[in-house]
Parts: sequence; C-alpha cells; structure tokens
Amino acid sequence: MANIIITTVPGLDKLAMREIKDITGKDPEYAHKGMLRLDGEMDDVLHLNYRGKMLQKVFWQLAEAHFEKKDEIPETIHQLPLNELIKEDQSFAADTDRHGEHDFTSTGINRLAGEAIINRFRNLTGKRLAVNLDKPDITFRIFIRHQQCIIALDTTGTGLHMRHYRRYLHPAGLNACVANAMVRLSEWTPGESLIDPMCGSGTTCIEAILMANRIPNEQKDFPCLRFPFIDKAHLMKLKAKIEDEKLDQPLSVFGADIDRKALIGARKNAEKAGVPPDFIEGDATKIPLDHDRIILNPPFGLRMGSYRTVEELYEKFLEHLFQHNWKRTVILTARPYLIPETLVHQRINVESGKLPMSILLLEK
Ligand SMILES: C[S@@+](CC[C@H](N)C(=O)[O-])C[C@H]1O[C@@H](n2cnc3c(N)ncnc32)[C@H](O)[C@@H]1O
Repeated sequence: MANIIITTVPGLDKLAMREIKDITGKDPEYAHKGMLRLDGEMDDVLHLNYRGKMLQKVFWQLAEAHFEKKDEIPETIHQLPLNELIKEDQSFAADTDRHGEHDFTSTGINRLAGEAIINRFRNLTGKRLAVNLDKPDITFRIFIRHQQCIIALDTTGTGLHMRHYRRYLHPAGLNACVANAMVRLSEWTPGESLIDPMCGSGTTCIEAILMANRIPNEQKDFPCLRFPFIDKAHLMKLKAKIEDEKLDQPLSVFGADIDRKALIGARKNAEKAGVPPDFIEGDATKIPLDHDRIILNPPFGLRMGSYRTVEELYEKFLEHLFQHNWKRTVILTARPYLIPETLVHQRINVESGKLPMSILLLEK
C-alpha cells in the first residue's frame, strides 16, 4: 500500500511524478489533481523533502478509511499506535484538507480529530498531549476526499515552494515549483544559455541554477526529523550525503527586467540562494535574445512601462523574439489567447494562485 502522500501544484502532476521517480527510483501513483502517492520508506521521505523542487509537501500515511458520517473519523484515530508516533512532551495540531460536499467544516474535523488524538494518547500512556496551533512539533493531516479519510503525519512543515531564498517578494512573484517546472520544460541543459527577459525577483534563474548544481532545499527543521520512530542518525547521514552532491559548475543563466527595484530584489534573492547573479536592466522587447532557452512570466495586466497595454507588450515581445536564434521558449501566462496558437507547441494548464494559468512551449 502506498504510504507516502505528496502534494504538488495542480497541473504539474505528471512532471512531479517524473521528479519523484528520479529522486527515489520508485514509481508514484496519481491519486487526485495535485496529490500523488508512493510506496516507500522514511529514506524516500527525506530525499523528497531535500530534493523535491516541484513538490509542495510530503506526508507519511498512518491510516485510510471510508466513512459515511464524520463521527466515524475518530474511530480510525482510535486504532493508531499514537504512543509510537508522538512523544508526551511534543505538542501537536490537527490540520484538515477537505474536498467534496459535506455537512461539516474542516475546522470541525480539526476539533474532532484533535480530541480523538488526546483521548487515544491518554488511553495508551495516561498523559495529556499539548495542542499548539502555531508551531506544533507534530502535525496530523486529515485528508478528506469525498467519503475517504486519510490520516497522515506532515513530514515537511513549511511548504517546499516557500523557498528560503525569497528575501525580496515580488508583487507578482512566481510559485517556485512552477518556475522549476518551466526550467525543466525548456529542456535546458547546463552547457546551454538560458535567459528570463522579464525575470522580476529572479525565481526562474535561481531555480535553474539550484537544479543544475543539485543544491538541496534548505529548511532548518523538517518535522520528519522529530518523529520518535525514525533512525535519526541514519537520516542525518543521508542528509550529509545529499549535501555532498552539490556542484559548483559555472552556468550561463541570465535575467533581465525593465524595473530596477525588481532587479535589486532579484540580486538579494540570488545572494541568499548562494548563486551568482547575472541580472541586467533592460527592455525585453529590445535586448538580444540569442539564448538556447528563454523562460518568462510576463505581466498579466496593468499598464507596464512604455507599453499602453499588455496586449501591446506581448505583440512587441513576440515580434522581437522571432528575430533571434533560440531553441525553445517557455511562457507562463494567464492570457494564453494573446499568443497565436500556431506558435504553441504544447500547453499545460496549472492552478497556482487566483487565476488559471497556462505554460506554453514555443518552438521555431
Ligand atoms: C509577472 S512579473 C515576473 C515575476 C517573476 N517571474 C518572479 O518570480 O518574480 C513580470 C515582470 O515583467 C517585467 N516587465 C514588464 N515589461 C517588461 C519589459 N518590456 N521588459 C522587461 N521586463 C518587463 C515587470 O517589471 C515584472 O517584474
């Protein structure tokens, strides 16, 4: 039975499945949009947390049950060997992720599950667990998908897409998982040159360098390292091995933006990420674009710079783009209709943020 649950940005499922296979050597299964499952070990959990660039969170499944009424959910919790899953001096929280039509709320399930966890632990140990909703040591995730309930431990904590290097938050900053997916879809290889001509806070450029140089996700404190049932010394050795695989190869990755403030932010982020910045101030409709791979996330709306409308910016950019030599261009946009279909080689729809977005692959 698959015992690891992995969440990703809905729409990136296939790419994330390939990434999971690359990291663990095992084949994941598709469960729901944005949710994948894997039959694996705690070693896999550690590898996924440190290496997964398109993954948001990794969970360790404890139980799965079909239910008709919400009162059946505590019964599943009452079967768990909770004395092995959490120590008496550790605090916990219950956090529900619910999809489907129900006559109860997620908050209601948090309360119900929280009480069941306290009761079950007290029955097993005679001790009362402390609840901490802000900074729990252990988070129990209750996935409710229609009439199916999965109880799992959150192994990740802060979502992996919340990259540590984001010192400067661009008002239209890209989800780092989506930026990473765009780099992969560009089929860039480290010997080639890559540019993001509207780089904003530099997310795509930084993601490309982190990926090529095998730099793991930096998070001080993955909750899985607090689980009482793990072999911590063994996992710390694995972590050190992952760190040892870091490379420092020089790469041709460039970013440009018309907005100086964004570039200052991009440099700050690159510095925090520990990657060499190569950001220039320039207009994407004027700078040379002779790079093997071009990745960009143009503005979706508002008046930008000297362009009266986004439509005008897209038109000028595409005209300029096709005057240069490149192999593949990857564009993330909420306005795919502004790019003629004849230019689009592939389209992937993603659900990240408030607007539905598309990643478009352009080839000459
Ligand atoms: C959606 S944001 C990009 C966000 C970026 N992907 C990130 O993660 O921070 C679009 C960017 O395009 C830039 N931009 C708009 N028109 C431009 C132009 N003509 N040339 C270069 N950059 C431009 C804006 O300044 C803005 O930073």
